[in-house]
Amino acid sequence: MIVLGIETSCDETAAAIVTDNREILSNVVLSQLETHAVYGGVVPEVAAREHLEHIDKIIAAALNDAELSFDDLDGVAATCGPGLIGGVMIGMMSAKAIAAAKNIPFIGINHLEGHALTARLTDNIAFPYLILLVSGGHTQILVAEDIGKYKRWGTTLDDATGECFDKSAKLMGLPYGGGVSVEKIAKSCEDPSAAIARFPLPSPLKGRKNCDFSFSGLKTAVRTHIDKLPEGDLDPKDIADLSYALQNKMADILADRCESAIKRFLQEYSGDTLVVCGGVSANKTIKARLEDLVSKYDMNVNTPPLDLSGDNGAMIAWAGIERLKRGQNDPLDFKARPRWPLDPNSTKGSK
Ligand code: KG4
Ligand code: ZN
Repeated sequence: MIVLGIETSCDETAAAIVTDNREILSNVVLSQLETHAVYGGVVPEVAAREHLEHIDKIIAAALNDAELSFDDLDGVAATCGPGLIGGVMIGMMSAKAIAAAKNIPFIGINHLEGHALTARLTDNIAFPYLILLVSGGHTQILVAEDIGKYKRWGTTLDDATGECFDKSAKLMGLPYGGGVSVEKIAKSCEDPSAAIARFPLPSPLKGRKNCDFSFSGLKTAVRTHIDKLPEGDLDPKDIADLSYALQNKMADILADRCESAIKRFLQEYSGDTLVVCGGVSANKTIKARLEDLVSKYDMNVNTPPLDLSGDNGAMIAWAGIERLKRGQNDPLDFKARPRWPLDPNSTKGSK
């Protein structure tokens, strides 16, 4: 089975071709990072226009890289939400057009399920597993019981993890694409213990029994530290120290919330994997901290390879394959959904 996956829900125009043997035949991602950098954040209307301009070429490139044509496809999957609705519509309508023209199944994919199922594409992880989903738009702890069957145990009450990295990076004057910038400059911190002592940061919700998150206080604390520094351009040493302190605190908070989830997971389920997915899963300090944590509980951490941690079409194609294999596909009047919780019973928050 060969499926084309299309992803356009935020600022990546992406298409990929994946087989049911878990082979990624192509994976083309066009980032709009530079386009949005001048605005300091993703501008939905600009993103939609960029998707529209590039989607045809990106799909053609995915077919070309895989040395296939539309006739070789057994299905076409596209992100139908959650995300910026203009972009979502463009990917979804492109997929529906291909499905209609070639008379093949269309599968409408929840973007979050794409991230959540990547561990099955790369490492064939069996259900059930625990998920820490950390991206620019979402921060959630979920249990994946099966395809389409997720329990959401925790979410952020305010900002998402990636959002906190991005906003803090902006306050420090670091280049757009905040998480990567913070990780990079934190490496030049010369004395980690001194940096942590110099820039104390709060640990919101630490020790609570539930699995919720809160990051807005962290961002405010970063701002307060910056306000206390001498006026003018920030010293690179100060930025390195503050970035180190922030990244370290993020790792602490995520580990604390995951520990709460792990204890519950081991009581209620018989799995042994914590899947960490979404853009922030690329962060090495966070991954190392989570690995330390799970080793205490005889569990493993699974993170995607770098080219699958951010938004991509391969995860959407794979989610489509998982559904097609179960005989599931969607009608061509399937609706795009700007909000689309993975767990329909989760009520609070939307991130
Ligand atoms: O999953 P993703 O590509 O897009 C969304 O669906 O949001 O995640 C993007 C987020 C951004 O906030 C970005 O700053 C963050 O992931 N990110 C990182 C790293 N790489 C990307 N955060 C921390 N460390 C990184 N290395
Ligand atoms: Zn994403």
